[in-house]
Amino acid sequence: MSQSLATVAYIGAAILFVLSLGGLSNPETSRRGNLFGMVGMALAVLATIFGPRVGPSGIAWIIVALVIGGGIGLYAAKVVKMTQMPELVALMHSLVGLAACLVGFASYVDTSVQFTGTEKIIHEVEIYIGILIGAVTFSGSLIAFGKLNGKIGGKPLLLPARHWLNLAALLIVIWFGREFIHAPTVAQGMTPLIVMTVIALLFGVHMVMAIGGADMPVVVSMLNSYSGWAAAATGFMLSNDLLIVTGALVGSSGAILSYIMCNAMNRNFISVIAGGFGSGAPAPAKSGEAAAPQGEVVPVTAADTAELLREAKSVIIVPGYGMAVAQAQHTVYEITKTLREKGVNVRFGIHPVAGRMPGHMNVLLAEAKVPYDIVMEMDEINDDFGGTDVAMVIGANDIVNPAAQDDPSSPIAGMPVLEVWKAKTSIVMKRSMASGYAGVDNPLFYKDNNRMLFGDAKKMLDEVLIALKS
Ligand code: TAP
Repeated sequence: MSQSLATVAYIGAAILFVLSLGGLSNPETSRRGNLFGMVGMALAVLATIFGPRVGPSGIAWIIVALVIGGGIGLYAAKVVKMTQMPELVALMHSLVGLAACLVGFASYVDTSVQFTGTEKIIHEVEIYIGILIGAVTFSGSLIAFGKLNGKIGGKPLLLPARHWLNLAALLIVIWFGREFIHAPTVAQGMTPLIVMTVIALLFGVHMVMAIGGADMPVVVSMLNSYSGWAAAATGFMLSNDLLIVTGALVGSSGAILSYIMCNAMNRNFISVIAGGFGSGAPAPAKSGEAAAPQGEVVPVTAADTAELLREAKSVIIVPGYGMAVAQAQHTVYEITKTLREKGVNVRFGIHPVAGRMPGHMNVLLAEAKVPYDIVMEMDEINDDFGGTDVAMVIGANDIVNPAAQDDPSSPIAGMPVLEVWKAKTSIVMKRSMASGYAGVDNPLFYKDNNRMLFGDAKKMLDEVLIALKS
């Protein structure tokens, strides 16, 4: 393939990626968006393999790598459960970071292309920054993976003087960057490069370990953004325009998502990008320190729940992580359909950080064919709980916790929540009194107008559906 044909293919792929992102912004066009992304990626890979920069022996290596990598990817996508998707995404981010590091070291030791003067400095700055971003992304994403699958505890690790430690690390990295660029030989440049890589890896670990459970959504989207910048840095090192464009698209869309997440969590965007996660947040309450919830827990049966729903004129359903665990979305849809046929106004209230990844609930509800026009964002529906008969909370906890508003000592203080307790009756469906991801007690369960339907969400909803239809 000639250079000009490869360039045209790259431009076509870049346009398809932009269309893909545009499509993914709306549930109705998201399938088309995915398709654009897949076609764009296929085009990009083909144009790279058969482009002028890869010789016949290179093609064989690429095909071996494609078969191995593609096989692992296919296997992972087949076996992963929907609830493990955020962990898989974190792991994928770590691979982008690792790739940026490996490409950085490879292009530094590669003497087949000789740079001189300013070009050499620019190339070395690209390598240094590329490895820096890659290493932070790699170790940070691995810790995020551990935190998301529960192998690493959700409690933030707050080292004394951690901001000073970060500042010291930054100054050392700048100092060694200078040493690296002035190193006369590759061998001499290796020491500052390796020292910086180790510091960046430690910084990635430190940054994510310092995040409490409730702030993880911000970290996940930040690492998503970092992985884009790591890919863009790889593009600079390899002089691959498409990788630069694609990395920048992922990096900037991840940054926008982080901004949206920050708003959702009531966090300051600047303090987050400066690595000051949680600095403005109250310290996690020691046991017994936060106000213990007052009141009595009132359990209900599935039949009582069906009765309350049948008598209601308006119902708002609030799904959370437990709905994903129980895979209850299809029964939720059946109940919605049955209630709507009876003339009940049923809507859904979606919190921006419900579940374990951005858009988690929207994906599940779309899969169950819940009409998009009754699925509302938190800001669109939060004022309507006051005029609602029943708020049905399905496997959600942190996102409906009134302590976020009422208890300044709570670790989730200040986080906007869905005000389900303002409905005439709220029904919370979960298996026990256990806390949610943030590990915080929920006073909602003890409110006078709240009822608890204990059990697996799918099982209980099946029973509610049978009772509704009888
Ligand atoms: P959580 O606060 O984690 O609460 C989920 C609840 O579901 C649990 O209390 C659990 O209680 C219940 N549950 C689990 N399995 C169930 C089942 N089979 N049937 C019925 N209930 C079940 O979830 P949420 O309200 O959706 O809030 C999300 C949390 O995750 C927030 O703290 C958020 O910051 C964090 N987070 C979000 C993201 C993104 S981007 N969305 C990423 C990382 C972290 P039982 O054990 O008693 O059943």
